[in-house]
Amino acid sequence: MIYFDNSATTEIYPASLDTYVKTSKRVFGNPSSLHYLGVQANRLLEQARKQIADTLQVSNEEIAFTSGGTEGDNWILKGTAFEKRSYGKHLIISSIEHPAVKKTAEQLTHFGFEVDQAPVTEEGIIDVNQLAELIREDTILVSVMAVNNEVGTIQPIQEISTLLEKYPKIHFHVDAVQAIAKIDTQKWLTPRVDFAAFSAHKFHGPRGVGFIYWKKGRRLQALMTGGGQEGEQRSGTENVPAIVAMARALRLTFEKINQRPEHLNHLKDALMKGLSTYDKVTSFFSRRK
Ligand SMILES: Cc1ncc(COP(=O)(O)O)c(C=O)c1O
Repeated sequence: MIYFDNSATTEIYPASLDTYVKTSKRVFGNPSSLHYLGVQANRLLEQARKQIADTLQVSNEEIAFTSGGTEGDNWILKGTAFEKRSYGKHLIISSIEHPAVKKTAEQLTHFGFEVDQAPVTEEGIIDVNQLAELIREDTILVSVMAVNNEVGTIQPIQEISTLLEKYPKIHFHVDAVQAIAKIDTQKWLTPRVDFAAFSAHKFHGPRGVGFIYWKKGRRLQALMTGGGQEGEQRSGTENVPAIVAMARALRLTFEKINQRPEHLNHLKDALMKGLSTYDKVTSFFSRRK
């Protein structure tokens, strides 16, 4: 079988699955427990955090674990709304966001928040000038995905970052679930990006696990309250085997990208530009005949 649905989900790498099974069997302590097994689990958890942070070239404290992309998007939108409700009630999302962002924003409208959707061009790319016109005094968040999950269009995160330099109080969230390990990190994790959401099953890791990038100094309210894990920000006993297996999958994915031959990078860039790239792909193949 040739599997072509990798934007929906990917097959777990055997090495990631192996890590999951071994960690489940051998390091089953609760990372919050003070005994040896707990300390061991906590050490693995922190190693996984460091590995992910190093891969993205951010610091360890800027990575928080979640159950996947949907939770990450929910956390960032609702956490911003709850945190900043006394400053403003206006959010901007793009009109082509994943339902994890769109439906969350819509839910917030039932709690007194106002949401505007930035339109896209015929090619499915956000018009940055139109986005700029939507910004208000009371805007608290702009949320734009880096790569669209249906047509693969790459959104102008660098241009939006430049625009938002003028509005330092607005939280800038990037849903990077489809972008990580597909396009260069600096294209979507710019210094102006405050938050980003990720999901392991899109890069050959296990399902039901992910993480968010949360820039140091920015504030979010917790979505999950309880035992105070993740520095009181995301309660619930950590899924250590899945987190460690996710870190391994991410490392392997980045290693594979770095080994990718030049001509495949060309094809990848062409494919990622969405439907309009059909011509480029065919011309690429005709050049290689
Ligand atoms: C762009 C985007 N955001 C969020 C999600 C949700 O991620 P998860 O399946 O981990 O909840 C997906 C999944 O398809 C996605 O493509």
